[in-house]
Amino acid sequence: LYSIKELLKKGTQCLNEKVTVQGWIRSFRSNQFIALNDGSGQKNLQIVLDYNNFNTDLLKQLTNATSIKVNGVVAESKGAGQEIEVIAEEIEIYGYANPEEVQETILQPKKHSLEKLREQAHLRFRTNTFSAIMRVRNALSFAIHKYFNENNFCYINTPIITGSDAEGAGEMFTVTNFNLNNIPKSDNGDIDFTKDFFSKKTSLTVSGQLEGEAAAMGLGKIYTFGPTFRAENSNTTRHLAEFWMVEPEIAFYDLDKTMWLAEDFLKYCIKYAIDHCKDDLVFLNQRFEDEQKQKPKEEKTEHNLLEKLDFVLNNSFVKLSYSKAIEILKKSKPNQKGKFKYPIEKWGADLQSEHERYLVEKHFKSPVILYDYPAKIKAFYMRLNEDGKTVRAMDVLFPGIGEIIGGSQREERLDILKNKIEDFNIDEKELWWYLDTRKYGTVPHSGFGLGLERLVLFVTGMGNIRDVIPFPRTPNNAEF
Ligand code: 4AD
Ligand code: MG
Repeated sequence: LYSIKELLKKGTQCLNEKVTVQGWIRSFRSNQFIALNDGSGQKNLQIVLDYNNFNTDLLKQLTNATSIKVNGVVAESKGAGQEIEVIAEEIEIYGYANPEEVQETILQPKKHSLEKLREQAHLRFRTNTFSAIMRVRNALSFAIHKYFNENNFCYINTPIITGSDAEGAGEMFTVTNFNLNNIPKSDNGDIDFTKDFFSKKTSLTVSGQLEGEAAAMGLGKIYTFGPTFRAENSNTTRHLAEFWMVEPEIAFYDLDKTMWLAEDFLKYCIKYAIDHCKDDLVFLNQRFEDEQKQKPKEEKTEHNLLEKLDFVLNNSFVKLSYSKAIEILKKSKPNQKGKFKYPIEKWGADLQSEHERYLVEKHFKSPVILYDYPAKIKAFYMRLNEDGKTVRAMDVLFPGIGEIIGGSQREERLDILKNKIEDFNIDEKELWWYLDTRKYGTVPHSGFGLGLERLVLFVTGMGNIRDVIPFPRTPNNAEF
């Protein structure tokens, strides 16, 4: 019993071997050739059958999407693009798929739009495009664990249900076991969370960072890799309400070392995907090129997908302070009108994605790491610089994506951290345990967060984050 990928890899080494393969029929031509796929790889295996050796009832059931098991013998193939094929001796049907019903679905073999695939997210694992994306996503997840383990980081699981808002952005999903028809209220009319399961208000985590910091304050180098949740009502091609975040946290690291780590880590993961997902990336590259052909001239990219990946691997990321970026943006003419939709007026404003993309795609034509942002537009835990105005934050910006990583050196000085917490109107009591880490042997430390889906977007060349996660959670969408 071989997976189709294994068998095709062995190729002519298996000539005349008796094998069993199984999978779903992708097509059945001339009553003779079945293209069989089992999900192990991009390529189908050709099954050849002699019409006269099988009964007509069985032959009628060999329709697209039907699942079968084949016993047969490996032979050299005369067909183009394949070394071997399997001559079928016995065919067993696992599950018949009725062609009339299949016609209504994305299993019908023709080109379907990505929107249509999303509507049938439960079936899209069987398409070439989505299965390729899932295999690349898998390789990237594995590379992430591999990178950190090879570099002596300890994998830590932080809680999914949490009592703190790590990013202080208030974009949290509340978790409760109250009966919604009978929610206890206190005298002033507020919901009485002391009667809830955890005796306090809790939410789904937006980031494991604060707990990750506590872990790094004992284990040195840690990383988290888990689901995170954001109730931001932004219906964009870059945002999900549920996404997977990777968060390394390192004791004794300053921001410069962390920028280096982020770059080294991203390059490692991209290289791993290139080395281990060749067929899928060649397929996705073709798809990318076909899409580019249909775009208006001004939206076309200079490079194809494989060239883009290569470029990132072979060039150093540009490192630029927020203040310098503002100077560049103020002087720039982004388009024919010469204006941004949100013009840069003064220092201190948050950058919009059009600004980030201008820097990366037009000005530098390279990934950019922006650092030293104004304290007011970043989270409370970031380390204050000598100037008293900026913090040691960094964002890694990628072509076609925008922000792929956000990170910072953390404020390790107890008194300054307490002031920041007060400035941000956060209740100090809620963070007592976090402050403890600064009381008992505090050290300089830093970390960052990578959104897995943004990395998958970049490596697969897809345009919409909903197409790189099996069952996307977005506003008004929790169908599956
Ligand atoms: O920049 P963010 O909000 O940073 C943090 O959460 C820090 N606690 C990370 C840290 O320093 N440990 O999020 C980090 C990354 C972003 O750069 C982006 O890649 C991704 O998470 N991200 C999202 N991905 C998909 N959908 C969303 N709604 C996302 N929000 C953030
Ligand atoms: Mg961010």
